[in-house]
Amino acid sequence: MSEQKKLYIKTYGCQMNVYDSERISDALAPEGYSVTTDENEADLVLLNTCHIREKAAEKIYSELGRMKQLKLKKPEMQFGVAGCVAQAEGQEIINRQPMVDLVVGSQAYHNLPEMMRDVAKGQKPVDIDFPAEDKFDHILRSKGKGKGKGKRKLPSAFLTVQEGCDKFCAFCVVPYTRGAEVSRPAQKIIDEAKHLVDQGVVEINLLGQNVNAYHGQGVDGEWSLARLIRELAKIDELKRIRFTTSHPNDMDDDLIAAHGDTEKLMPYLHLPVQAGSDRVLKAMNRKHTAEEYLKLIERIRAARKDIALSGDFIVGFPGETEADFQDTLTLCEEVRYGQAYSFKYSTRPGTPAAERDQVDEAEKADRLKRLQTLLTKHQYEFQLSMVGKTLPVLLEKPARDPGQFVGKSEYLHAVHMDATPEQVGTIVQAKVTRTERNSLGAEIVE
Ligand code: SAH
Ligand code: SF4
Ligand code: F3S
Repeated sequence: MSEQKKLYIKTYGCQMNVYDSERISDALAPEGYSVTTDENEADLVLLNTCHIREKAAEKIYSELGRMKQLKLKKPEMQFGVAGCVAQAEGQEIINRQPMVDLVVGSQAYHNLPEMMRDVAKGQKPVDIDFPAEDKFDHILRSKGKGKGKGKRKLPSAFLTVQEGCDKFCAFCVVPYTRGAEVSRPAQKIIDEAKHLVDQGVVEINLLGQNVNAYHGQGVDGEWSLARLIRELAKIDELKRIRFTTSHPNDMDDDLIAAHGDTEKLMPYLHLPVQAGSDRVLKAMNRKHTAEEYLKLIERIRAARKDIALSGDFIVGFPGETEADFQDTLTLCEEVRYGQAYSFKYSTRPGTPAAERDQVDEAEKADRLKRLQTLLTKHQYEFQLSMVGKTLPVLLEKPARDPGQFVGKSEYLHAVHMDATPEQVGTIVQAKVTRTERNSLGAEIVE
């Protein structure tokens, strides 16, 4: 048995990175690493990076610069860069910051134990390959053999079912940093779900950059996401299923139907549209019109009328005029999102839109402010409509105030209430008494 060492992981970006960071710690556990939340006591520091918006790489270099202090205090400390910046920059990271001992791309985490052995020999390994095998395969198989077994899990967990993207939206780096779309075989997902449930998980959020394009191998041919969800719903102790993120063009009839007939599938859908102008949608290579999107929403609401919708928006995409932007506001008025994310367009070198004429920075900032005002208003009105209602809430963890706990409504609201530690991990009936900016307050009624 190798000696005990401490691993500190700092995670940036999307939920897939959060999931990957957990797999990274699983992969390194058999090598004697246990996770620490204190960077000062780390033997190995890993930055799991995101490349989605501008200056991502610069931020990582300045973070590494700051971390040089740690190395000065503890010269044997080792540093690694993982994730999407690692994938995009590769060897360049070590060239610019020689303190870095290893660079591991988003698809190579199963090689980490071997890479650490190379580091111990004084080498500086860089692995940014896209292997043919499932990157989690090896990690999940070795799991449970090492330490950290029986660790209490939060009642809600992520599970990656699909990775990568073939859509090539004109603004986006994901097809380059995560590679081509790959679906994991259905049985592996079901096994992992059962394993999570055995550890006390009652809600699973299926993850993928294009999750509804899922088409993994099942026992009787290829399974769609809807089929996978229906099978997962058969696991008794699993109470809630969610999935994220979806592309409008991959919302098939069966998945829409599942929202109406699969009780465990939560009434919440993150379905980014990015913009409301057909001209901009075309320039973004989104491959649908605003009208088609609205028709789709209509069909989804026909299947599940109380569904809460969420979205992503980009303002100031190259060529976006004020009239185009008004179309985005109009679309938001029609959909009335329960919650949404919005960003200023940010150039990503290597993507088609980076080469085009850019919208003025001040104009972008102004549009973002106006869009966010509207989105916040809709979010608040949706939250206000919950006041007085009794909702099933999955209690997740203690909140900041003593005696207070926080959980999630079916619509993914954070809901605060007085509760007891034994109620964590259970679904309680809670009467909503008030709404804050980004959460609800409630009282348990039964
Ligand atoms: N697969 C998802 C989104 C992945 S990226 C989809 O297709 O919708 C998450 C969000 O980041 C995107 O929805 C988009 O709104 C935003 N984003 C991606 N690239 C961006 C860029 N270059 N500038 C600003 N926002 C961007
Ligand atoms: Fe990026 Fe999503 Fe478009 Fe794929 S579908 S290129 S992940 S925005
Ligand atoms: Fe960022 Fe990579 Fe996720 S670029 S958003 S961490 S897929």
